[in-house]
Amino acid sequence: MTEQRAVRGKSIIKRTMKLILYFTVLSIGLSAQPHLALEQTINRKVDSVLALMTLEEKFGQLNQLGGHGDKITDEQRDLLKKGLVGSFLNVNGAEATKKVQKIAVEETRLGIPLIFGYDVIHGYRTIFPVPLAEASTWDPDLVEQAARVAAREASASGLHWTFAPMVDIARDPRWGRIVEGSGEDPFLGSAMAAARVRGFQGKSLNDPGSIMACAKHYVAYGGAEAGRDYNTVDISERTLREIYLPPFHAAVNAGVGSLMSAFNEIGGIPASSNRLTLSQILRDEWNFKGMVVSDWTSILELVKHGVAGSRPEAGVLSLQAGVDMDMEGRIYLLDLFHALKDGRILLEQVDRSVKRVLRMKFLLGLFSDPYRNCDTETEKQTILHPDHRAMARSVAQKSIVLLKNDKNILPLKKDLKSILVVGPLAESKSDPLGSGHGKGMAEDVVTVLDGIKRAVSAQSKVLYAKGSGIDSIDKRELQKARQMASRADVVLVVAGETARMSGEAASRAELGIPTAQHELIKAMQATGKPVVLVLMNGRPLAIPWEAGNISAILDIWFLGVEAGNAVADVLFGEVNPSGKLPVTFPRTVGQVPIYYNHKNTGRPPSKDYYTSKYLDVPVTPEFPFGFGLSYSTFAYSDFAAASSIGPNESLKVSVTIQNTGNRKGDEVVQLYIRDVVGSVTRPVKELKGFRRISLGPGEKKKVDFLLTSDMLWLYNAKMERVTEPGEFVVFVGGNSVDLLEKSFVLRAQ
Ligand code: GLC
Repeated sequence: MTEQRAVRGKSIIKRTMKLILYFTVLSIGLSAQPHLALEQTINRKVDSVLALMTLEEKFGQLNQLGGHGDKITDEQRDLLKKGLVGSFLNVNGAEATKKVQKIAVEETRLGIPLIFGYDVIHGYRTIFPVPLAEASTWDPDLVEQAARVAAREASASGLHWTFAPMVDIARDPRWGRIVEGSGEDPFLGSAMAAARVRGFQGKSLNDPGSIMACAKHYVAYGGAEAGRDYNTVDISERTLREIYLPPFHAAVNAGVGSLMSAFNEIGGIPASSNRLTLSQILRDEWNFKGMVVSDWTSILELVKHGVAGSRPEAGVLSLQAGVDMDMEGRIYLLDLFHALKDGRILLEQVDRSVKRVLRMKFLLGLFSDPYRNCDTETEKQTILHPDHRAMARSVAQKSIVLLKNDKNILPLKKDLKSILVVGPLAESKSDPLGSGHGKGMAEDVVTVLDGIKRAVSAQSKVLYAKGSGIDSIDKRELQKARQMASRADVVLVVAGETARMSGEAASRAELGIPTAQHELIKAMQATGKPVVLVLMNGRPLAIPWEAGNISAILDIWFLGVEAGNAVADVLFGEVNPSGKLPVTFPRTVGQVPIYYNHKNTGRPPSKDYYTSKYLDVPVTPEFPFGFGLSYSTFAYSDFAAASSIGPNESLKVSVTIQNTGNRKGDEVVQLYIRDVVGSVTRPVKELKGFRRISLGPGEKKKVDFLLTSDMLWLYNAKMERVTEPGEFVVFVGGNSVDLLEKSFVLRAQ
């Protein structure tokens, strides 16, 4: 009897769900209606599903578990069958996700589909340059295209959600995760954040090839003291709002579907229980409608932070602050039930989060087609498509930064008699993938050595000597390299960091090239042969000796599967390097944190003794923010700007750039401002515009910028975002130091 009633009950629910699905498809099919009507339709459907859910099923929707590649554990399957899982991460593949999704849709009481998430940071299987390298292109459109390719491959493999873009501003290169972001500047970081959100999410979340993006790690994770990952962040609200929040705001304005709350505390309040950031700013000020997922057990870690005395307490703090889904902590699943019963949380707080999760599932089209990304044939045709590799090569070419090129030693001639390539990283197939490389495989990578071998002419000889270990001196190898150098026209040293020396939990207290490789560089320099240093790195490195003694230095970061081809394209002049640094390179780690948009202080560095300086090192960086050379040279002229603008007017700025070299080249024209006198102290420079332009040899182009008065904002003493009249300086140039400047006044009326 009970059984029959249960079965009957089940079939009623199934029929109701089918009705909901039918009306959903119908109503979303009518989505020709304006956005608002669609929103209302979806909200109605969300409410109808919510009304059917038990309390356990509601907590289940807020529970995300970590899968195991192409399967889940028996224990996870049991939870899933009870409707106690809303999402899996780290389950990927069209077939694998379909298997797990079938359990959710066909074997649970309500059949609510799962959302599958994964770290698709700079490519899914076709791995692009690491985000810090992509930021060096200063080309948001190109970065958007790269994210689109990643989304196409990820969605073909059963995924609906990527935990990217990582938009953390980083001013401390000791912090290993600087590699995953877009560097030190909020304006460039905001442009890259919005570009990646557009690329991942496309025109609509339920378009084929779209996946939901996730701006992370909300917020100020990159401000970790001493550059140590997960460490304390203690910054002013002004720094929070002016430096760390803008890229998240840009992501929200670009329509990002989710954010991830960070591990770190912010001035005593952990990011995963921070009402200021998660409620007041994100919901009330920015009107964000999407969902917030915690970082991996970051809710549970509130106990370690010492703000929660127990698991339930941690869950209460996070849910109330505004974290909607618990990644792998199982607190929302297991511990909130009691908190609800004894009134420490309210049912509407639970419902609020469940509705946000359901809404994203509707927007992703999962209710109308839960198996939408589970076609193995599509997967096979999409993964590592040749067009994707071609795109990866193009992004890699533009990510390369030429830091030095004395005596124009570069580009090399393809028909040179012999070239010696040295360094353990030159033949590495895994390191060019960089950290966070998704399903990237070493077998897919073109090494730097291979790229060079493919590029040179048939009669050229490419010699290779490992020369050293990554950080272990090998006298025999070193001697071999010395001997081979005598037979080479030029020596190319590929040196720097392995992929594991940056990324999560990979902070470094020192910033130099590992000693063994540094010795190898010196030994090659001592041979008297022309030496080119190809730097492979996931962060700014302190390379004072190399900067002072090596004629040519190319920074290639971690360029992904097409690394070798892109490096060869630039080395031999097929492509003119055009990358610009998105982060400052210090002379020594002792200068850190060092960044271009610093304050002036009351005693700025000068020839006077009692000023803000070091006794042993200049205060200037080795290579400044925005810096990068070309095989061409560019001249700036006719810099024009009005001398004053009214409160709601825009300052038109124009400048002419001429390619004074003998080959086509790209230049990234940068525009900075300085607010000379504010009600609070202001940076000596702030990036407010950039434009990448291509110029043939001798060609001139006029570039115009429109500086609107609301771009001159600051947060005043009352923490209000305002624009204040007064004197400003506007700068233009090819980096943050070599600039033309003009003063102008923002009038009060
Ligand atoms: C990690 C990272 C986060 C990532 C998540 C899921 O700990 O902090 O960036 O998205 O877990 O892998």
